[in-house]
Amino acid sequence: MQKRISPAASVSGSITLPGDKSISHRYAMIAAISEGETLIHNYSTGADCHSTLGCVRALGIEAEERGTDVRIRGRGLDGLRAPAGDLDAGNSGSTIRMLSGILAAQPFRSRLFGDESLSRRPMQRIMQPLAAMGAKIAGRDGKFPPLEIEGGPLHPIDYVSPVASAQVKTCVLFAGLFAGGTTSVTEPVRSRDHSEIALREFGADVRVEREKVSIAGRPRLTGRELTVPADLSSAAFFIAAALMLPGSSLSIRGVGLNPTRSALLDFLVGEILVRHSLLAGGVIEKGLTAALIDEIPVLAVLGAVTRDGLTVRDAAELRIKETDRIRTVAENLRRMGVDAEELPDGLAVPGLQRLHAGEFDSYGDHRIAMAFAVGALAARGDSVIHGADAASVSFPGFWDTLAGITD
Ligand code: S3P
Repeated sequence: MQKRISPAASVSGSITLPGDKSISHRYAMIAAISEGETLIHNYSTGADCHSTLGCVRALGIEAEERGTDVRIRGRGLDGLRAPAGDLDAGNSGSTIRMLSGILAAQPFRSRLFGDESLSRRPMQRIMQPLAAMGAKIAGRDGKFPPLEIEGGPLHPIDYVSPVASAQVKTCVLFAGLFAGGTTSVTEPVRSRDHSEIALREFGADVRVEREKVSIAGRPRLTGRELTVPADLSSAAFFIAAALMLPGSSLSIRGVGLNPTRSALLDFLVGEILVRHSLLAGGVIEKGLTAALIDEIPVLAVLGAVTRDGLTVRDAAELRIKETDRIRTVAENLRRMGVDAEELPDGLAVPGLQRLHAGEFDSYGDHRIAMAFAVGALAARGDSVIHGADAASVSFPGFWDTLAGITD
């Protein structure tokens, strides 16, 4: 699917965004291994979170959807059933990596696969700690999906992760739920803490000490009623549009402002009623890079219209997201007539540049489709986004929401 985007003078109004993708995945997975019913309100409408629900159902769990409410009948830590076929994680790195932690402890075999993009993403980062816990897990060429997991008893570990990755941390903590004793994960920089919070909400004993998170094995998890806040990473596109277009005034309702995710706001603005501003630009590096990792594509577009430009460092992780986002961002920026230098671990985008209309390609990556749609609003002339349907991975209503706020 392709979308034509005309320039907009401003964006205005009030919008509601889908439920947070990270939180939705975690609630669904933890609910499945909790005892009793969980009711999740405002579950993400994105395809990724539906991949998680599909896997959970294939493991014998009832998950009933009514609009954005999802009712999950949990069967406790030992209640999952062997799947009849392979588990489809679709495009979702969170599904395959986090669910593997649970599957590694089951008394059955499972096989997880994904789409073409997911099949190219590295899995050693979870295979290594799970193997250290005693799991038998194999991947294509020893490192890619499909993953074959022969579940069994696990023992706790004290894992020091070389990467700041919430997916890796979650995978190990989920596996730790099934191990006797305490499992811990230490990260170089703390990643988003949604798992720590969600696990506690369901009754797990989770302790946090600086970059180290520990979980006690075999807790009693119980179902509950929860509401997912709106996704700040989806809000990022609209915040960027409002900042870029003069005369904009946009209010975004119900956004989750968890401090491990809201670095975007510290970096950009002070309130979430967003008005056009001349942005200074700056450097994103070290811990800030980890905190802003999903927002970098749209920040790079925004960087071109800032006063000082934007430099991103320490972001080699971007190369192994749904696409190599350093390359796909730089490529599309060039098509926008924007000067951008690709660095091994980031990007350098000089400021005070003009954005030109053109043809942009999502390369099948949701955040690239949405980032360049925002850029196209500020360009002169009509642009085309190829592969626009990719947005539905996290935000199926993106194009309608965008059309509803542009003047
Ligand atoms: C996520 C963690 C991040 C992020 C992804 C969602 C999560 O990935 O990019 O979109 O929900 O835990 P990494 O764990 O690979 O950094």
